[in-house]
Amino acid sequence: MTSAAATPLTQDELKTLVGQAALKYVVPGSIVGVGTGSTVNKFIDALASMKDQIKGAVSSSVASTVRLKALGIEVFDSNDVPELAVYIDGADEIDGLGHMVKGGGAALTREKIVAAQSKQFVCIVDDSKLVQALGKFPLPVEVIPMAAKRIAAQFVAMGGTATLRLKDGVPLVTDNGQHILDVTGLRITDPLAFESQVNQWPGVVTVGVFAHQKAQVCLMATAGGVQTINYR
Ligand code: 5RP
Repeated sequence: MTSAAATPLTQDELKTLVGQAALKYVVPGSIVGVGTGSTVNKFIDALASMKDQIKGAVSSSVASTVRLKALGIEVFDSNDVPELAVYIDGADEIDGLGHMVKGGGAALTREKIVAAQSKQFVCIVDDSKLVQALGKFPLPVEVIPMAAKRIAAQFVAMGGTATLRLKDGVPLVTDNGQHILDVTGLRITDPLAFESQVNQWPGVVTVGVFAHQKAQVCLMATAGGVQTINYR
């Protein structure tokens, strides 16, 4: 007897699956760190089902704050919460050690702040985000606008190309009132050193490499289900 081949899950379904899987990392009675993006939106939607079991959330963007509040989840100021047990966020790329590139949704600075105040970073992705070495996805860098050209030239000197991110034909303005450069052509073989180096350039607000704030856990949605990867 032959059985019909299963229809492969769409990327949207994979995101829903991994968003729901992240619920098991939410500590009852706690305040949850919440990232930004289409995968995190699935997590936020799932989190609504246990909103009465948590105190609320610290959010990494205006967009996530709006979604959380619309679902009745209280959002706390990061300054009022000394430490979070867990931060749940997506990524644009993740390597075999839990280093990530983030900022495709322009929220990298607040994402790094909330990650830094969290004991555990749980990254939720589908398997299209797994890479051998960071650098395939255009690297987002949040910059002070008056420094954008100088920083772009520094990336050119490294062998990359930096492009100012536009929205509706004008420079995109982040939640922090700054601009984003997207850098292509780099292969980031030492993410820790690269992050430290670029963060020192005057005018860089945040580089989208998350190596100092790497993931401790990755939940990766695949055709065969959600895999859990634990990093040291
Ligand atoms: C936003 C981010 C997101 O986590 C990243 O862009 C992944 O987003 P998505 O889940 O939509 O693919 O860093 O700044």
